[in-house]
Amino acid sequence: MGVGSMRLILLGCPGAGKGTQAKLIGERYHIPPISTGDILRNAIQQATELGKRVKTIVESGRLVPDDIVIDLVEDRIRQPDCKNGFLLDGFPRTVAQAEALQRLTPLDYVIDIDVPEEEVVKRLSGRRIHPGSGRIYHIHYNPPRTAGQDDITGEVLIQRPDDSEETVRKRLTVYQTQTHPLREYYAHPVERGGTRHPQYVKIDGTGSVDEIKNKIFTLLDKRKETIK
Ligand code: AP5
Repeated sequence: MGVGSMRLILLGCPGAGKGTQAKLIGERYHIPPISTGDILRNAIQQATELGKRVKTIVESGRLVPDDIVIDLVEDRIRQPDCKNGFLLDGFPRTVAQAEALQRLTPLDYVIDIDVPEEEVVKRLSGRRIHPGSGRIYHIHYNPPRTAGQDDITGEVLIQRPDDSEETVRKRLTVYQTQTHPLREYYAHPVERGGTRHPQYVKIDGTGSVDEIKNKIFTLLDKRKETIK
C-alpha cells in the first residue's frame, strides 16, 4: 500500500508498544521505522565510538544528550528510503529535540500510545528481543514460536539491560519529566505558530497488539483517502 507521503512520530512511555507497532506500520505503509533506541543499542553492541560514549547512559535509563540524537536523526531521514516518509519511534523525547525536528522536516501525524504505568512494568519485565533485527517479543503477550528463540532466524533472544525493574522505574521518571511535556507541545501547537504542525492523535494502548494496530491502521487509511 503506497501513500503520497507519511511522516509520523510515535509517542508513548517506555513499554507503550511503540516498537511493536512501528514495525507493523512500516510494513503496511512501506515507510522505514526509525528507532533511536535501536540505533544506539546497535552502536553499543558494535562498540563504535558512539556506542562507547552512550553505553552507560542508555543502560542506566537516562537520556543521551540532545545534540547526539538530533544528528543521528538528521542523517537518517536524509537517506533515500525516507523520500516518501518515515516513522520515528523514540524521537523526539525532549522539547529541544521536537524543535530541532520541526526545523528539519514537515510532519504529518503524531500518534501517542497511552498505557498506564503498572501495565508497562509488566510488559517490560517480560520483553525479549532479537538483537540482530530488533524484533520484539513478550514471554506471555507475544511469545516466540519456540521459547527463547527468534521466529525468523532461530537465534537466541535476550533481555534488554535497561529492562530491570529498577531501571524501568528510572526510565518512567525520565519520561514523566522530560518527554511527557511533548504531549502538550503537539496537542496544542497553534500557540507557537511557525511551520505546519502535525496532527496529534492519542490512542488507548491497553488492548491487544492487534487491537492497537487496527486503530492505527484505520486512522492512517483515512488519511490516505484524504490525499488521493
Ligand atoms: P528506546 O529503545 O526508545 O526505549 P523506550 O522509549 O523506553 O521504549 P521501549 O523500547 O522500552 O518500549 P516500546 O514502547 O517500544 O515498547 P515495545 O513495543 O518494545 O530507548 C532506550 C534508551 O535509548 C533510552 O532510555 C535512552 O537512553 C536512549 N534514547 C533513545 N532515544 C533517545 C532520544 N530520542 N533521546 C535521548 N535518548 C534516547 O513493547 C514492550 C513489551 O510489551 C514487548 O515485550 C511487547 O511484546 C509487549 N507489548 C507490546 N504491545 C503490547 C500490547 N498491546 N499488549 C501486551 N503486550 C504488548
